[in-house]
Amino acid sequence: MSSVTQLIRYGVAFTDTWRQATDSSDLHLTPQRKPSWLETPWGGHYHGGNLFLDRPFPVRLTGTKYACGRGGCGACTVMVSKHDPVSRKIRHFSVTACLVPICSLYGAAVTTVEGVGSIKTRLHPVQERIAKSHGTQCGFCTPGMVMSMYTLLRNHPQPSEEQLMEALGGNLCRCTGYRPILESGRTFCAESSGCQQKGRGKCCLDQGENAASSLGGESDVSPGFCPLPERICTELFAKDEFQPLDPTQELIFPPELLRMAENPEKRTLTFHGERVTWISPGTLKDLLELKVKHPDAPLILGNTSLGPAKKSQGHFHPVLLSPARISELSMVSTTSEGLTIGAGCSLAQVKDILAGRVSELPEEKTQTYRALLKHLKRLAGQQIRNMASLGGHIMSRHCYSDLNPVLAVGNTALNLMSKEGTRQIPLDRDFLAGLASADLKPEEILESVYIPHSQRWEFVSAFRQAQCQQNALADVTAGMRVLFQEGTDTIEDLSLAYGGVGDATISAQKSCQQLLGRHWNEPMLDEACRLLLDEVSLPGGAPGGSVEFKRTLVVSFFFKFYLEVLQELKKPDRFLSALEDFPATVPQGVQRYQSVDSHQALQDPVGRPIMHLSGLKHATGEAIFCDDIPTVDKELFMALVTSTRAHAKIISVDLSKALELPGVVDVITAEDIPGTNGAEDDRLLAVDKVLCVGQIVCAVVAETEAQAKRAVEETKIAYEDLEPVIFTIEDAIKHSSFLCPEKKLEQGNVEKAFEEVDQIVEGEVHVGGQEHFYMETQRVLVIPKTEDKELDIYVSTQDPAHVQKTVSSTLDIPINRITCHVKRVGGGFVHLGLKSVGFMNSGRIRALDIECFINGGCTLDDSELVTEFLILKMENAYKIHNLRFRGRACMTNLPSNTAFRGFGFPQGTLVTESCITAVAAKCGPSVREKNMYKTVDKTIYKQAFNPEPLIRCWNELAEFNKKNYWRKRGLAVVPMKFSVGFAATSFHQAAALVHIYTDGSVLVTHGGNELGQGIHTKMLQVASRELKVPTSHMHICETSTATVPNTIATAASIGSDVNGRAVQNACQILLKRLEPIIKKNPEGTWEDWVKAAFEQRISLSATGYFRGYEAFMDWEKGEGDPFPYYVYGAASSEVEVDCLTGAHKVKKIRTDIVMDACCSLNPAIDIGQIEGSFTQGMGLYTTEEELKYSPEGVLYSRGPDDYKIPTITDVPEEFNVSLLPSSQTPLTIYSSKGLGESGMFLGSSVFFAIADAVATARRERDIAEDFTVRSPATPERVRMACADRFTEMVRDSRLFS
Ligand SMILES: Cc1cc2nc3c(=O)[nH]c(=O)nc-3n(C[C@H](O)[C@H](O)[C@H](O)COP(=O)(O)OP(=O)(O)OC[C@H]3O[C@@H](n4cnc5c(N)ncnc54)[C@H](O)[C@@H]3O)c2cc1C
Ligand code: FES
Ligand code: FES
Repeated sequence: MSSVTQLIRYGVAFTDTWRQATDSSDLHLTPQRKPSWLETPWGGHYHGGNLFLDRPFPVRLTGTKYACGRGGCGACTVMVSKHDPVSRKIRHFSVTACLVPICSLYGAAVTTVEGVGSIKTRLHPVQERIAKSHGTQCGFCTPGMVMSMYTLLRNHPQPSEEQLMEALGGNLCRCTGYRPILESGRTFCAESSGCQQKGRGKCCLDQGENAASSLGGESDVSPGFCPLPERICTELFAKDEFQPLDPTQELIFPPELLRMAENPEKRTLTFHGERVTWISPGTLKDLLELKVKHPDAPLILGNTSLGPAKKSQGHFHPVLLSPARISELSMVSTTSEGLTIGAGCSLAQVKDILAGRVSELPEEKTQTYRALLKHLKRLAGQQIRNMASLGGHIMSRHCYSDLNPVLAVGNTALNLMSKEGTRQIPLDRDFLAGLASADLKPEEILESVYIPHSQRWEFVSAFRQAQCQQNALADVTAGMRVLFQEGTDTIEDLSLAYGGVGDATISAQKSCQQLLGRHWNEPMLDEACRLLLDEVSLPGGAPGGSVEFKRTLVVSFFFKFYLEVLQELKKPDRFLSALEDFPATVPQGVQRYQSVDSHQALQDPVGRPIMHLSGLKHATGEAIFCDDIPTVDKELFMALVTSTRAHAKIISVDLSKALELPGVVDVITAEDIPGTNGAEDDRLLAVDKVLCVGQIVCAVVAETEAQAKRAVEETKIAYEDLEPVIFTIEDAIKHSSFLCPEKKLEQGNVEKAFEEVDQIVEGEVHVGGQEHFYMETQRVLVIPKTEDKELDIYVSTQDPAHVQKTVSSTLDIPINRITCHVKRVGGGFVHLGLKSVGFMNSGRIRALDIECFINGGCTLDDSELVTEFLILKMENAYKIHNLRFRGRACMTNLPSNTAFRGFGFPQGTLVTESCITAVAAKCGPSVREKNMYKTVDKTIYKQAFNPEPLIRCWNELAEFNKKNYWRKRGLAVVPMKFSVGFAATSFHQAAALVHIYTDGSVLVTHGGNELGQGIHTKMLQVASRELKVPTSHMHICETSTATVPNTIATAASIGSDVNGRAVQNACQILLKRLEPIIKKNPEGTWEDWVKAAFEQRISLSATGYFRGYEAFMDWEKGEGDPFPYYVYGAASSEVEVDCLTGAHKVKKIRTDIVMDACCSLNPAIDIGQIEGSFTQGMGLYTTEEELKYSPEGVLYSRGPDDYKIPTITDVPEEFNVSLLPSSQTPLTIYSSKGLGESGMFLGSSVFFAIADAVATARRERDIAEDFTVRSPATPERVRMACADRFTEMVRDSRLFS
């Protein structure tokens, strides 16, 4: 066994300025606070910057982010470069660092975002373009996006659009809606036309008007204007400014590592950790000997199976064997009969190998390879495919495995090896079931995998259905193969294997046997389905969809296979369209906005598409988030002990064992709180009872995070369960369990109107709760000062003043001793609506009665406010004379729910729109327009407003649509009236503090928080216009309670408006003070005037204040003026639905949005907000299935594995956004409107388009049109709503079983 010294001599190269670890006699990996990207088998996470060898080895890289920790979000993407011993080439590949064990990087170079470029030195074109294309909002996902794109370009400097989609498929973004990220990537693609209007008539670049840009020159604003008639622009950035990509300038692979690879170390290397030993043999012989010595030790390759199992299920292995250096496991060989692939090849390599064979061999021989390739494009994201090995995939035998069913039907054989010799076993049903007789022996390893060629008259296919197109485990997956007797359609051999339908991949052997000799025709299809439903029985609680859905997929997939084979046999069938797949294409689209007036000063940035202030820093990883703050001396870590019961009395808390553990400093309980322990009904730390699983009971403080977490496990709490335990709205109603009184609004005479209408439709609408899914998970760093009980708090929050107040009352320290700092923040409710709508045959709605219940969880939090907003906003854009809206927040024993973007509007309005859709189904599509507000009017709460912009949005959209051909599948158009602001005057105030320094530089601070929505950028645009100084002279450092006190939460879409007014006020005060000086020296410079002002003792600092809008609501009378103004909009979406699987979206989906932003402060930011919120809305209504809890109230949906937000492949294929031109509002700053939340509801256009497509499918099948697709319209719900002969077969099989 080699010593540690030898190991470290070669070490790992970190490539910002790549380095090599030095000789050492010991290896210490010291945990640091920064969650990190390199995981060790010792259990902690380590960032390259925090890797310590025998002496500190501080790289302190902060760019790589850490979010999910399970390989599912891509925030931690880095590039690994290795010398491939087989091809003798350098291989660059992206990985999710949170799953990469540090020891696996022996001989590898790691490039983090810092190594790519920096604002201090040189930006890489990838970084420049993603920022300037407005592809960053909060910026937390950006380093990962950059690294995925950078790795792609290292391998393909001019990638195809398909490669771009593939490269980014494993990276999630919660803010942008992906379109601008893809737009930036597309600028590198070979086929990029450079015009956003690609193929759609008049191209702005063709006009030769680009040169007439109103920007540029010496101003510091981005050019990119493209004046068209009516001052309508369609460019948000100027592509011709981008620096070219020069692949020769990239970092080279470290020569030391190259030398090392050429003379590979053959000795076994061993890393000893606190609890784990990592052994990396240098030869196959040594590996086989080690396997005898450690038969239970797993072989660790990609760690994408072992890693997540360790984290989520606590799997622990004291010895790990790493075969990464054994080149025999990466060998590939071909014969005339088939292909042998080394078990150590990554899935990405397997994909390339198979693609190579497919291009070389005749089609009939590559059936299995093509089926595998189909799955390899969809399986996980690119990073996981780069890491995961073929051997690891097969040996993990996951029930959801995509490849095993195909390999099983393809007659694959496994080549095994041990010290005793080699043998071959089939990858068959018994192996997949893990039967000992068909499995590896403990001392054996899988050396390679033999996949035979297919033959003439043999057809192989693969199918999968998941919640999203990519980066999601399949609900059901299948491999199918049929061999016909030569020249006939008589089945000679048949294999069908399914994943996701049991504990292991299963083969439907019995069914296949019984179908031998049958002709490939309809009677065979019917018989096959019957047999399959008989044979493939599912356990009740199989994850990933209901039993009925899965059984429906089992037969639907077979139907698809049947059709595919018919096509191969050249037999016509009217259903062949069912075979068209949904390709992942880069979305196209146009973003339209009105350019600034030609008289506007060039230096004045208001109204121009300025890049996000932190855009470049996001792209280089230099933007600092809470976790990136360097560690401070004597730093301690807190871990929370939370309740494991949903409703229980606390009998006792035993801390003795936890306190004895090394490193534990204290355990804090409610008794230790010097001030107030939260509110009576919302305790900070539970006192004598708990109300939900996850409620905080006490907190452990220790020297390291690992120690604190270990102590949490040793804290023993005894409970006595209490009754009732309420989880659902239905139970809460039964027990009258509510958090606050009912909120109600009513107008007209609802009862009478219902008596007079021609028709009434009644029903229920469910809207699932939505997870915020912040990419930056919640963090706080508290630094107590040595004097006067002062505390500095660095926290990711949108309401620092609230944090400050809460800390003050908890610790009993005056507010003035506590300072909250927010540099930037990386950015659910379940509803049940009971509806009743009465209407005339003409489609005119006369009466609407909606009662809503929301699941507020165990404490009030914002539930009352959300209920109020829900009721106030529910009428949306419709004038209905007799209306009644009622709402209640239910108290349940679930963790407290809070507001999401839109504060209940997207959920409540879905209920209203469902009513309108139900009426439209009976009376025709004009129902929406017929019932919309048309002239100056009053809302249900008697606030006057003018719907003229709404009508303009609607007409503009209709006009736009008229010019475009609609494919007739599912189509929906929704109007929107969204109220901005809070229904309370005190919430509409803001302050700002502006300092001018003697060098002329300006520091702006205000009360808004940067959550990615670009508020700081907009504030500098305001300050720049007011002071007439370019934004390059200005700076915003952070939001702090010390500079602007008593701030209001940045929410309700009003942040930029009220804070903008405060900044404007401060700047106007300062300019007034400077006016006499300017008048005296009009030719002087800004610096001259500032200098003179200072010399004349004129204060260069001013506080600005905005007293805000009057807003009130009298709930007793049901009247008020609760909102300062409305944002109007309309959206239309077109979708195609695969009725056999429930898959929807993407293919041929098209969305058009027209939004009334009035005079946008920054069209790039505002369009980004619309697209981002639309995508979040689309997630709410289509993929983000309500949070799942166990029967005991334990939250299951904890990360990207279980909760699916839209991915890059879900963006509409054509996505057009227009800001309504020539719109004005006198109320707001520079006549702009707040657009942060409103776009979310427009995502419902996709939901209603899906419902429309389902209705069409049901009409074709002569099934009743009265059906409900629940929100979200997941593939399961869509599939089951598209009832057909297969769903019927499933139902009948259940009835008769
Ligand atoms: C975010 C994410 C998304 C995913 N999405 C999908 C998906 O959509 N579809 C899908 O099918 N899968 C998916 N997976 C699972 C993934 O395919 C498997 O985890 C992966 O293939 C395992 O390979 P590995 O090299 O990482 O295995 P490791 O975790 O390194 O090892 C797994 C097991 O295999 C054994 N093993 C490995 N090699 C050998 C060998 N040569 N001989 C004997 N035993 C061996 C090890 O002992 C160990 O027990 C996903 C995983 C993640 C993390
Ligand atoms: S943090 Fe690594 S993939 Fe999410
Ligand atoms: S910008 Fe992508 S997560 Fe915020």
